Amino acid sequence: MVKVALVTGSNKGIGYAIVRGLCKQFDGDVILAARDGSRGLAAVSSLEKEGLHPKFHQLDITNQESIDQLKVFIAETYGGLDVLVNNAGMFVPPGDKESAEVAKTTIRVNYFGTLAVLQTMMPILNSGARVVNLAGGLASVVFRKSSPARKKVICDAASVHDVTDVMNNYVQSVKDGVLEQEGWPVDIPKMMSPAYCIGKMGINMLSPITQKMIDADTSRSDILINACCPGATSTDMYRGPGGKTIDEGADTPLYVALLPPNVPEPRGQHVFQRKILEWMKHGPSCK
Ligand SMILES: NC(=O)c1ccc[n+]([C@@H]2O[C@H](COP(=O)([O-])OP(=O)(O)OC[C@H]3O[C@@H](n4cnc5c(N)ncnc54)[C@H](OP(=O)(O)O)[C@@H]3O)[C@@H](O)[C@H]2O)c1
Repeated sequence: MVKVALVTGSNKGIGYAIVRGLCKQFDGDVILAARDGSRGLAAVSSLEKEGLHPKFHQLDITNQESIDQLKVFIAETYGGLDVLVNNAGMFVPPGDKESAEVAKTTIRVNYFGTLAVLQTMMPILNSGARVVNLAGGLASVVFRKSSPARKKVICDAASVHDVTDVMNNYVQSVKDGVLEQEGWPVDIPKMMSPAYCIGKMGINMLSPITQKMIDADTSRSDILINACCPGATSTDMYRGPGGKTIDEGADTPLYVALLPPNVPEPRGQHVFQRKILEWMKHGPSCK
């Protein structure tokens, strides 16, 4: 059976470069998934000009029907999934104060969308599969600035349900204007979106939890689920100084996606610059 890799939100940016790298290094088909058909097909034809042959499939990570359709396609065509890169994400710089709408939308895409893809695809992961969740070092900033009580809730989260509760608490706290009472930081630098950081924190929290879920099923061997940070990379999302090229940004995600068989780690961990790092200790500059 032909192996298959899936990269979400890969019509541009780091995801596009991950597809390019997988087309060169992965022994199987590579699915370039995009929510918009014309943007996805344009990205495929651009890579074809380099002699690469990714396959396009539509995927909106906020639409369960769209995720289910892709799962059925992969299961029927390939019998299972070998590499899943949860790359799709969004960032709305909030300015002075984050609106409830921005918080809700950002968490809906970055946390709930990623979670929906992960949970839908987990049952069809083949033995030896690699899952990479694009998180970010900025998650550490909100953690460090949270109250001791909030930090304890974050550290004690032991199930997907617990992580989802943390995400919902943040969205509700913005809506109700009770961030401080709930232990969330209110002094995040203006250029950063707190909801972006918190959604990415959720992604970091999910990786060890979902790894444990997989490990509990002894019939499924050598599946690795890790989070990683690509580092500040010049894309439509990040236009600040000192950004890496998209191919440089894709380096760590590709490293995690292509981990050889039976490596002991990284396993449910956070990887930055090809090295394991506790996400809470990640530097705020994410370089
Ligand atoms: N760039 C950085 O410095 C940096 C640092 C740390 C982490 N990251 C993470 O790396 C990942 C890629 O970021 P990037 O900088 O390459 O961003 P980007 O250039 O803005 O690309 C984001 C991709 O996600 C897609 N997307 C957004 N919402 C989607 C949805 N609902 N369903 C499916 N796809 C959706 C976008 O599609 P459209 O074109 O249709 O909008 C686009 O293809 C993100 O998860 C980001 O948080 C980036």
